[in-house]
Amino acid sequence: MKISTSKQDLRTQIKYWQSQNKTIAFVPTMGNLHAGHIALVEYAKKLADKVVVSIFVNPTQFDKAEDLQAYPRTMQADQEKLQHIATDLLFLPSVEIMYPAIDDACSVQIPASMDILEGASRKGHFSGVATVVAKLFNLVQPNKAIFGQKDFQQLMLVRKMVNDLDFDVDIIGMPTVREADGLAMSSRNGYLTEDERSKASGLYKELTILQEKILQGESNYFDLQQDTIRNLKERGFVPDYVEVRRQSDLQKPNVDDMELVILAAAWLGKARLIDNITFHQGD
Ligand code: PAJ
Repeated sequence: MKISTSKQDLRTQIKYWQSQNKTIAFVPTMGNLHAGHIALVEYAKKLADKVVVSIFVNPTQFDKAEDLQAYPRTMQADQEKLQHIATDLLFLPSVEIMYPAIDDACSVQIPASMDILEGASRKGHFSGVATVVAKLFNLVQPNKAIFGQKDFQQLMLVRKMVNDLDFDVDIIGMPTVREADGLAMSSRNGYLTEDERSKASGLYKELTILQEKILQGESNYFDLQQDTIRNLKERGFVPDYVEVRRQSDLQKPNVDDMELVILAAAWLGKARLIDNITFHQGD
């Protein structure tokens, strides 16, 4: 596995592969790799000749509620995992290399339609995500890029940015990888104490209970959401939101909207957990 820490080095390798007509699949990450990340990389290998993974803890997407310094960094273990699955190139830039003038730089602006759910709870987060993903796409020039449905709104935002700003890259979404008890894998699960960890799968459990009620014909989404919020509180969570939305644009569903997603964010101790379930209503 080649490791590039400079843009120059990365670009030289990418240009070489392009000159050989090799296709490139790209998986951007913030490291602390778990089985969810690895599933994206494994899939990337099936899609293209060469696979590039980036590890960059992007400061511009952190808000004050989450400590950038505390974000888990496990570089040695990450490199071994990527080496093991034969990643072709790991891009590992420093903050100085990615943002030489962090307070005086152009950025990607997010439309008001994205200022909901995660966008409302974490001000500036999505602009930070879109900007770093745009920069990484310009550097890596991938044919395909793979993202997890775990971050449903992020995946939607990346698709929208690629469409609106005419990036020539196919965006692929991959299902959420879960622990045995249903908890969605996340680097932030490491913030949980042992006791919190034993309660954490309650988030997914409550989402599946809510999904089941909708599939059985209950349609007062507001009351259902309130029930779930109450149940989450009883389980020890501090819920941020629980919302039933339509998949297409994350707006509130009409009666004839069949493709739904339930999205939730809730604090458990120091960890802010997010999860979602997509489903088809009306079978
Ligand atoms: P990070 O949280 O490291 O996630 C990197 C990719 O892995 C994202 O596409 C995310 O959706 C996916 N992922 C995380 N947990 C997953 C799981 N349990 N199952 C499947 N996929 C999962 O998301 C980011 O980093 C950053 O915002 C980034 C896109 C790299 C921009 O900085």
